[in-house]
Amino acid sequence: MEFFIDTGNIDEIAETYAWGLIDGVTTNPSLVAKEGIDQKTLISNIAKIVDGPISAEVISLDYKGMLKEAYELAKIDDNVIIKLPMTKDGMIALNDLTANNIKTNITLVFSANQALLAAKNGATYVSPFVGRLDDIGQTGMQLISEIRDVFDNYAYQTRILAASIRHTDHVKTCALIGADTATIPYKVLNQLFHHPLTDSGIAKFLEDHANSLK
Ligand code: G3P
Repeated sequence: MEFFIDTGNIDEIAETYAWGLIDGVTTNPSLVAKEGIDQKTLISNIAKIVDGPISAEVISLDYKGMLKEAYELAKIDDNVIIKLPMTKDGMIALNDLTANNIKTNITLVFSANQALLAAKNGATYVSPFVGRLDDIGQTGMQLISEIRDVFDNYAYQTRILAASIRHTDHVKTCALIGADTATIPYKVLNQLFHHPLTDSGIAKFLEDHANSLK
């Protein structure tokens, strides 16, 4: 299972990448806006740290604008993945980028049918947003399960990139269902390490060791 970090923050990326557990990075316009630098500089800075897929999202709504942005972003680094919205224009742009061997990530996916369309046009990744479905009273993980079934039915190579991950149980359920990738915020990545029995177990071992020296 691939782990991406869902952030544009260089400090978070550098710290987590050093763990050896992070395979790539996803950004979106909201995450880039938080960092106060332009998108191309930010993606270039991330590429200096991370040797793996780095999603950079277009902001144009028409396919011509999307493609203009996409080809500029793709020049930054071989690891750049072009993130396109799940719209008709997004699908036209996807078709062009697939034909030109540029890797893609179709974002804002909220149904299995949307994922199917992206897979048919050769997307490298689809990003179903599980947390945002939970927010409106649906079950985000059900969508991951449905997309897994659809892709397996036809042996589509498009990778399921579970996004909008809000807590550690999302990560565990993704792994159980067989999502290919989860893009995980910094806070949740840190929470994955912890278990109270690990902490109390270490404390007891150290206590027993100290007592043995008395
Ligand atoms: O990067 C896309 C996605 O992960 C956003 O998550 O928490 O804004 O719904 P969130």
